[in-house]
Amino acid sequence: MSPLSRRSFLGATLAAGAVAGLAAAGCSTGAPPVRSRPPARPLAIPPLAPSSTDAGGRRVFALTAAPGTSTFLDGLATPTWGYGGLPFGGPTLRVRRGEEVVVRVTNRLPETTTTHWHGMTLPARMDGGPHQPIAPGATWEASWRVDQPAATLWYHPHPHGATERHVHRGLSGLVLVVDDVPVALPDRYGVDDVPVVLTDRSFTRDGAFDEQHRNAVGLLGDTVLVNGTVAPYLDVRTTRVRLRVLNASPARSYRIGVGSPVTLVGTDGGLLPAPRVVDDVLLTPGERAEIVVDCTPGRRTVLRSRPDDLGAVNGVAAAAGGADAFDLLELRPAERLSPSPAVPAVLSREAPLAAPAEGSTVRRFVLSNNRINGLAMDTTRVDEVVPVGATETWEFTNRHTQPHNIHVHDARLQVLDGPAAGRAWKDTVAVAPGTTVRALVRVGPYADPEVPYMLHCHLLRHEDDGMMLQFLVVGPGQRPATTIAAGHDHG
Ligand code: C2O
Ligand code: CU
Ligand code: CU
Repeated sequence: MSPLSRRSFLGATLAAGAVAGLAAAGCSTGAPPVRSRPPARPLAIPPLAPSSTDAGGRRVFALTAAPGTSTFLDGLATPTWGYGGLPFGGPTLRVRRGEEVVVRVTNRLPETTTTHWHGMTLPARMDGGPHQPIAPGATWEASWRVDQPAATLWYHPHPHGATERHVHRGLSGLVLVVDDVPVALPDRYGVDDVPVVLTDRSFTRDGAFDEQHRNAVGLLGDTVLVNGTVAPYLDVRTTRVRLRVLNASPARSYRIGVGSPVTLVGTDGGLLPAPRVVDDVLLTPGERAEIVVDCTPGRRTVLRSRPDDLGAVNGVAAAAGGADAFDLLELRPAERLSPSPAVPAVLSREAPLAAPAEGSTVRRFVLSNNRINGLAMDTTRVDEVVPVGATETWEFTNRHTQPHNIHVHDARLQVLDGPAAGRAWKDTVAVAPGTTVRALVRVGPYADPEVPYMLHCHLLRHEDDGMMLQFLVVGPGQRPATTIAAGHDHG
């Protein structure tokens, strides 16, 4: 069998759900192993999105989603989709806590898309989920007041059933929330405060992204793109760099580290109360970590991904890319570095979520074969109704052999037990096979009895396959809708 037909065969087998067969097939065949390549290109830094201020003092951004052509590998042109004039990826939106922002998203793609602000606390109508479609040629306007602590968030499409494809073609960008609480962390964008957006692709012989060879985990590639750059290096001029790492991959997880301890300063939803020295950090799709890396003059350091079984057995981890070890980014410190401030002992004074009263609602979500509580996503169904501003305990149990994760829109979470427990702010949490993750979940302050938020696995193939539920956030006295008007633009 040629390598290609062998992969097609495995892809078909896996698509049918026969993951157990992987163990027999050998561990590297479940997903194409990532190859490390010698660092060859400077890391691309997504530009900061330009904005203007309107008469009402609102900060206005315009983003267009459009097809383009990218060159990732020498001599190969790759058809891609991007935002804001970039052929792939998107500019970084930097917004301040307290300001009103407006983002006008124009769709120049050949099909309907949406733009979701992952991790943002905002009204459901502005969330950019499956209920806020943007038809080709149309412009959708999202506006909200930014009111959450400093964090690394991101934006990406969320059209029901097509999220994986839209993201895979290249649509995703960062949103940095800046607040007024001074904290002495490196903050010069692209200099010592560096976005690191990880994603992986395989290429067909003519240079296109391979959209065909997926397994039960999803689309995994043999080539890692960091901010769209293959085999990147970064010239460093300071003794410390802050890396804002986003796992924007459709399916692959990464365990990132530099071979010596790094300082973890932030997670999905903001800064930690205090820095934590760690050997590495696991990022499943959708998760973010802010780490500070100490640099020695003239000594190169490599950010790598290490193997992680993701709690799975029998080759399932390999199918999720968990057997792979590979380089992500080489840091190249200059011979002379300017000193960076030491990482402060206190990063955030934000109070942790208070435990809900004894006897208050506990919501339970059982993850199985691409279903939650046995249900497939129905865009018209109301799955949960949550009181506005509530902090509740939610339990996620993975009864499947495969790793999944859970992302909750409009919410900030703190995990109560397991390896991720603690005061880290999360919006996406890994749930290993056979485990339960309990979290305090706080939904935002916006009530809407008609338009839901989403709760889903962020392995995009699973989400597209229906591993997603909807919840309404309602105010006192509001009567929640019993069905949702699907696919209708509520804006
Ligand atoms: Cu990052 Cu519902 O998505
Ligand atoms: Cu989200
Ligand atoms: Cu999943």
